[in-house]
Amino acid sequence: MPGPLRDSYNRPIRDLRVSLTDRCNFRCFYCLPHGEPPMAEKEQVLSYEEIEYVCDIFTELGIEKIRLTGGEPMMRRDIEQIIFKLAQLKDKGLKDLALTTNGYFLPHRAHSLKEAGLDRITISLDSLKRDVFKQMTGVDVLDRVMEGIAAAKEAGLDPIKINAVIVRGHNEDEVADFAAFAREHDVKMRFIEFMPLDSGHDWNREDVVSGREIRQRIEERFPLEPLDVARGSETSSRYRFVDGAPGEIGIIAPVTEPFCGACSRIRLTSDGQIRTCLFSTLEHSLRDVIRDGASRAETIDFIESVVMKKEPRHYINDPGFVTLSRSMSFIGG
Ligand code: GTP
Ligand code: 5AD
Ligand code: SF4
Repeated sequence: MPGPLRDSYNRPIRDLRVSLTDRCNFRCFYCLPHGEPPMAEKEQVLSYEEIEYVCDIFTELGIEKIRLTGGEPMMRRDIEQIIFKLAQLKDKGLKDLALTTNGYFLPHRAHSLKEAGLDRITISLDSLKRDVFKQMTGVDVLDRVMEGIAAAKEAGLDPIKINAVIVRGHNEDEVADFAAFAREHDVKMRFIEFMPLDSGHDWNREDVVSGREIRQRIEERFPLEPLDVARGSETSSRYRFVDGAPGEIGIIAPVTEPFCGACSRIRLTSDGQIRTCLFSTLEHSLRDVIRDGASRAETIDFIESVVMKKEPRHYINDPGFVTLSRSMSFIGG
């Protein structure tokens, strides 16, 4: 029995993030401000059958968590179908099936996602103010996303995590309000440092609001204490409210407090390329391997050899760091 996958630094690889499409109906300035670059050609995009096949292999290799991402994954037709198929992998060792979405399609679809077998959901929400939301995402749909969050809750997707990318001059003054939102709605609110993954190449170190500052801003209103859980390969440091209020705070600080040493993640783009790091400059075509008729054993060999090439860390803080040509919308958050 092969697996668990390990890289050359002996990190076990347990998390696979699968991008279903590079299309998105939002224009978040920290990701895809000017719309999609030339999209993957339709025939290059992995079919649901292909995704199911490779996820089956990845599960055999010890992947325990699959997160579906985009672009906006719900832009892909009938994602309930692929969720249903992937949920069957629970019998083969998969433990967790999650989705990251901008929330736009949730008001009508949260129930069907849950019925198809989705365990939990992460929804992006960068502002609680209509004008700032529109300015950051390019679309005037704050109310609709709020309805989406309510629908996800209603549907029993649990826990609900809310992601806010905090960017200087845009929403850093809302950090404590977001904490109040977490308390009121009993959600896990996660604050993310702005990373150089924007297709507009406008990232600036001065725009990064550090995890430390985020925590200070919250604690001015709501004292926090760290959760007594092992962090493992998680991206966030987690806190509860000292006064026992519901909700949780997570701070994701990849720029000022990198967590690469315990990274357990690999990514599959919608056109079937394996990326061993968010900041990889190289991709490895799993699509070509399977479409060229490789056997299952050959495909496993390929995946194992690619994982051995996983980068030790990102180089955002090194002199001479060059931003990527592909934005987060392509790679999948
Ligand atoms: P769960 O803890 O399982 O809910 O997943 P997660 O922490 O990976 O959450 P999510 O997918 O919502 O990721 C949150 C954000 O963290 C992403 O949108 C990225 O901004 C950042 N992030 C996720 N994975 C990585 C990673 O491997 N490296 C870096 N540098 N940032 C990451
Ligand atoms: N920096 C940090 N996080 C980003 N995301 C997208 N672009 C960036 C960036 N430049 C994350 C957001 C969003 C998810 C889909 O991807 O958390 O919620
Ligand atoms: Fe892992 Fe790369 Fe993210 Fe570091 S930057 S945590 S190595 S994916």
